[in-house]
Amino acid sequence: MKARDVELVIADDEETAARHVAELLAEAARAGREIVLTGGSTPGRAYELAAELEPDWRAAGVWWGDERCVPPDDERSNFGLARRTLLERLDGQPARLHRIRGEDQPAAAAASYDQELRSTTLDLLLLGLGPDGHIASLFPNSPGLAETERLVIPAEAKLDPFVERVTMTPPALRSARRMIYLATGERKSEAVAGALAGPPDPAVPGSLIRSENGETIAILDQKAASRLHH
Ligand code: 6PG
Repeated sequence: MKARDVELVIADDEETAARHVAELLAEAARAGREIVLTGGSTPGRAYELAAELEPDWRAAGVWWGDERCVPPDDERSNFGLARRTLLERLDGQPARLHRIRGEDQPAAAAASYDQELRSTTLDLLLLGLGPDGHIASLFPNSPGLAETERLVIPAEAKLDPFVERVTMTPPALRSARRMIYLATGERKSEAVAGALAGPPDPAVPGSLIRSENGETIAILDQKAASRLHH
């Protein structure tokens, strides 16, 4: 299967993939871009390296593609992950920090983030990929995949951690000028093949999401890329 509308970067290992992502984050921070972070277990290393490469994020704006509905100091919080691995390690905090309020009612948190997002152009959006092919908190066959108006919605978790979510919708995600998928490890290889090379299919949300007017890049390690032909 060949990748569809995605530029592939295949690193030898997980650490090298994280470094590629860190370089793009650091460059965007330096240039004062609007940067959208993701959650999960994979991006933490990239965030640590990005803080080392560029400790001054004062020019940047930082957003989140999705959040788990927990307080910011909960260990499951996507904001909390970024705080531990990136923000606390910086010398200069981002001028514009747009956190999704996971401690609020999901519908209210989604509505206020939607408003916050309306006047912004997202420059760089980082996305993980679940083993089931989900991106942000848009899970297989979820109704949010068909959303055309709202930019941010409440969502139900279909995978651990089973807490409610708030997530950007496809129109918000697709608006990013540069979209970067980061996936590593053998357990992601099937989702990677489906999302990056398969036909558009709501059963594999990643297959529906590409930057509309910009570029989409997938940074993978050999294991995650093992079912792609490249
Ligand atoms: C989240 C994420 C989610 C994540 C994938 C991959 O809130 O969980 O934003 O979309 O990127 O689930 O997660 P892992 O890196 O843990 O595999």
